[in-house]
Parts: sequence; C-alpha cells; structure tokens
Amino acid sequence: MKKIGVYTSGGDAPGMNACVRAVVRTAIYNGLEVVGIRRGYQGMIDSDFDRMETRSVANIIQRGGTILKTARCEEFRTPEGRAKAAINLKNAGIEGLVCIGGNGSYAGALALYNEHQIPTIGLPGTIDNDLYGTDYTIGYDTAINTAVDAIDKIRDTADSHNRVFLVEVMGRDAGFIGISVGISGGAEGIFIPEQEGEMDKIIEHFDHTERRTKAFSIIVVAEGDEYGGATALHNVLKDRYPDLNVRTTILGHIQRGGSPTAQDRVLASRLGYEAVLALLRGEGSKAVGIERGNVVLTSFEDAIGKRKKVDQDLITMAEVLAR
Ligand code: F6P
Repeated sequence: MKKIGVYTSGGDAPGMNACVRAVVRTAIYNGLEVVGIRRGYQGMIDSDFDRMETRSVANIIQRGGTILKTARCEEFRTPEGRAKAAINLKNAGIEGLVCIGGNGSYAGALALYNEHQIPTIGLPGTIDNDLYGTDYTIGYDTAINTAVDAIDKIRDTADSHNRVFLVEVMGRDAGFIGISVGISGGAEGIFIPEQEGEMDKIIEHFDHTERRTKAFSIIVVAEGDEYGGATALHNVLKDRYPDLNVRTTILGHIQRGGSPTAQDRVLASRLGYEAVLALLRGEGSKAVGIERGNVVLTSFEDAIGKRKKVDQDLITMAEVLAR
C-alpha cells in the first residue's frame, strides 16, 4: 500500500481534526502518501481530493469541526454513486481508506468494501457515543462537558426563580449523552430512549406542591426519548401542573462545536494512529475502538449491527441520587 485517503463523514464531532492529524502524520511516518477527501462520500463522488503533508495538519489539534468538512450524502447510498466513488479513488491511486464517522458512515464503508474491495478502517467519530466496539467515541467527552457547563449556568437562574428547567440534549437514538449529562448536572429527572416510566417518577416528584413552587429542578431530556423531546414534555407537564413555573432549553448544535477536551484529543490521536497501522497490517472493513483501555478491532458488520447499551447500574444510581 502506497497511498491512503482519509475522510470525515456524517455529523461532525470535536476531535475529528485531532484524528485527521494523527492519521496523516502516522501515514507519512510510515512512508505512505495521504489524500484528504473533502465532504465525506460527496467528495469521493466529486473527486474532491487534496494531498496532505505533515504541515497541512499543523495547528488543528485544538480546533472543533473538521478541516476536511463533512456531509450526509444521498447519492452514495446507491450502487451507482458508490461505483463512481470507487473509480475516482482508483484513478487517484488510493488503495486504502480511513473513515471517521458514525454508524451511517461505517455502513457506506462496508458497502464500498463489499462491492469494490477497497480496504477501509472506521474510527468512531460522533458525539452520541452510540457505536458498538468502543467504550467512547470521539467528541462525546467534549459534548457532555459543553452540556454540563450549560446546565451549571441554567441552575443559577433556575435557583433564583424557583423554576423547573427542561434541558434537551442531543442523542437521536441513544441516551449516552442524556445519562452522563443528567448525572453530572445533578438532574432531578433524566429522560432517555433506553428507559421507560420516567414520567411516573416525575409525577411522584411534582405531586409535592413545594417541589413545584419553592424549589428548582433540572430535568434532562434526550432528543430521542419516546416523549418526543423537551418541548413535548413541557406541554405534558404544563397540562398536569398549571402552576408549574417551567422553562425549556434546547442545547442543540452547541454540543457539536468547540475545542475538544484533552480526553477527546488523546482518544482521537490514538485511534488515528492505530487505524493506519491496521491498514498497513492488511486489515480492511473493520472499526478500531478502545475497550477497557485496550485497542480493539470490530468487523463493520458487528459495529453497525450490534447495539452498545447504556449501563443499567448508572440509570439506577441516577435515580437514587436524584431523590
Ligand atoms: O449523530 C450526531 C447528532 O448530533 C445527533 O445527536 C443529532 O440527532 C444529529 O446528529 C443531528 O444531525 P444534523 O446536524 O444533521 O441536524
């Protein structure tokens, strides 16, 4: 293998740049040429390629977003789109790929591998932390710290006014962000897709009049919760308790930006480094992750098909501590 490509795909995540930097520098150190593919699969289809040097990735370790840009690409979901991308990669002499993204990005890489035999190593880049085969994904630590910082600020005003605040955090299908932010933000309630019956506990809590009027509460709601997010929950609570002084804050894409934490930078660097070594060993169609401190490789099939679960003990603990 002489030349590899690296791309970021799907929703961006803080730490993607640190990961690109690690891929580029490890590859060059090992005598490979590296091409940056801009805008993920869209850039593959459009031949949006840039040769990368050691200096191309200078001064990016601390930056959020992704210098390679990212996209969600419909055309790549079709065999024709993937065939176009494969021809472009072959014409550019790219023999292996490093894909930094989430579940959908891995699915694209697997299809490209199965149909066109282009070896690809996937790296978990998503704030959601919902990928099987790694304890943590790149961007998760930064996102939860951003959200907790916001909650600390909300607590000040909630306390001053004796208000209830519903704070919606990201996590389309998973409650990893919700549970961590809820615990570290000292929330009285946490609504996540993995857990049912949260409403009963909230009702039990607010049926005490003084908890509605004389104290403040923070309730964290994952956007993917079955209630349909914080706005829907706001309406349910208002109907039941007209005297409730409630406000809703949707943190949204603030959680996707910002300078990555040291933990995310280390994780991203380690994964980027390992991805190149895996390609050099002849691996392809696998994702690299870290489990219990060790580097592990997981087939794309498992990484896509298996589900990492939110720890039930954490959910139980959060309920105890919220009382
Ligand atoms: O997958 C990461 C994520 O931030 C989810 O938490 C969120 O639901 C989604 O992306 C938002 O996607 P978009 O930026 O395309 O609106």
